[in-house]
Amino acid sequence: MNKKHKLLIFGGTGDLSRKKLFPSLFQLFRLGLLPEDLEITGLGSRKLNDIEYTEHITDYVRKNKAFDIKKWNEFIKKISYEQCDITRCNAFDNKNRIISDDNINIFYLALAPHMHKYVFNNIRDRRKSGDRIIIEKPFGYDYGSAIKLNELAKKVFLEEQIYRIDHYLAKETIQNIFAFRFSNGIFEPIWNSKYIDSVYIEANELIGIENRSRYFDSVGIVRDMVQSHLLQLLSIITLDLPKSFTAEDIRDEKMKVFKKINKNLQFDNMDEFFIKGQYKGYLDEPGVDKSSITPTYAAMKIYIDSIRWQNVPFYLVTGKKMNEKCVRVIINFKHPPNKLFGSKQQGCIMHNQIEITIQPAEKICIRFGAKKPGTDIVLEPVNMVFEYKNYFKNEIVPAYSKLLLDIFKEDQSLFARNDSIEYSWQVIDTYEKYFHESQGKVHEYDPGSSGPDISSLFVTECHKQYRRKK
Ligand code: BG6
Repeated sequence: MNKKHKLLIFGGTGDLSRKKLFPSLFQLFRLGLLPEDLEITGLGSRKLNDIEYTEHITDYVRKNKAFDIKKWNEFIKKISYEQCDITRCNAFDNKNRIISDDNINIFYLALAPHMHKYVFNNIRDRRKSGDRIIIEKPFGYDYGSAIKLNELAKKVFLEEQIYRIDHYLAKETIQNIFAFRFSNGIFEPIWNSKYIDSVYIEANELIGIENRSRYFDSVGIVRDMVQSHLLQLLSIITLDLPKSFTAEDIRDEKMKVFKKINKNLQFDNMDEFFIKGQYKGYLDEPGVDKSSITPTYAAMKIYIDSIRWQNVPFYLVTGKKMNEKCVRVIINFKHPPNKLFGSKQQGCIMHNQIEITIQPAEKICIRFGAKKPGTDIVLEPVNMVFEYKNYFKNEIVPAYSKLLLDIFKEDQSLFARNDSIEYSWQVIDTYEKYFHESQGKVHEYDPGSSGPDISSLFVTECHKQYRRKK
């Protein structure tokens, strides 16, 4: 007998399910890419019937331009809801219709990290080939808890059944970084400390924490964004050529980067290496502890102890309620060794830059100096831009749709391996410990600004040039 696919979403009424999972599942359904036999059950603590549940998850799906009510009505036939208190032992007793050994069960943990252990406790006797578990980041709370969580997961599942999600890895432009670096002869030879001055990796949002206070206030932006998305992005920008383009070889190279991140922190001024901020008004958000020091902004300066990256600073910056929505990487190149044009360059002396924009538009811009037409020799920075939408007409597949599809196909290439998660936590733990020991402060900033005033310490000459000329 062919087994049916059953997707069980823990945290089925949460924000992630409404905003990302159901819109992505529906997109795959519309495109005919979901397994035909798939059934989906949302699990949550609220008392809802199936109809109330489908209403609850409809609002975000409707916002999509491609929403099609006829298709949606077909799709919701696959969806059911179960009220379930997962913190109880034996939460699934008498609920065999939810988890049956006759199905291929795909467990999706869209839950805060402290809830993961309850799910594992409840499914621990169910080791079965074909089943899969998907775990949302942050995977653990620190190095120690990530190890414990990995041990717990491995009691029930084999590594090839565990999918640790970091949706940034499936964003089109991030995947393109591999093609950009390794399929072109012109970039890789200069991708090192001989030519590169510094690198900025930024992920800023206009929105605040919205109605995620319960999750966010216990986690904060360093665990929510830096440990996962930004460190993964850093590893893709800096890794060496993998032996092959397979999941394992790519993951091996990423690991080497994480191992080499400098953890020997000896700062004169902590603020030049690690800044935390909180937007004004955060403490008034419903559900936030009035004395919370949870950061909503973080900036970290990181060095990688390898020959390729010796002395190149990597600036990782992320914040909520900032002045723009953007995810981008800016590679700043060193000046040429000659001084032929000296003061003829406009403004300050110009750095060449490669800017990889991941959001909101998908594009790559190369910035270089050109002679301004005229009788005098005046140089100005100009942009050479490749924008996805101008070259390719195919619809860009959203990250979650791509990842869900890969889970059905059992392809782990875009999922993080346990060791890289553990090493990335070591980096975060080292910074957090140093911050704590140096009695670092969480600085206030105005919503709609570029972060706390002190973040100007992270604005180097290259970055000033970037802000002037973008
Ligand atoms: C999530 C974080 O992983 O990524 C959120 O938990 C954040 O806090 C979101 O808002 C940003 O994702 P995207 O795809 O909109 O950049």
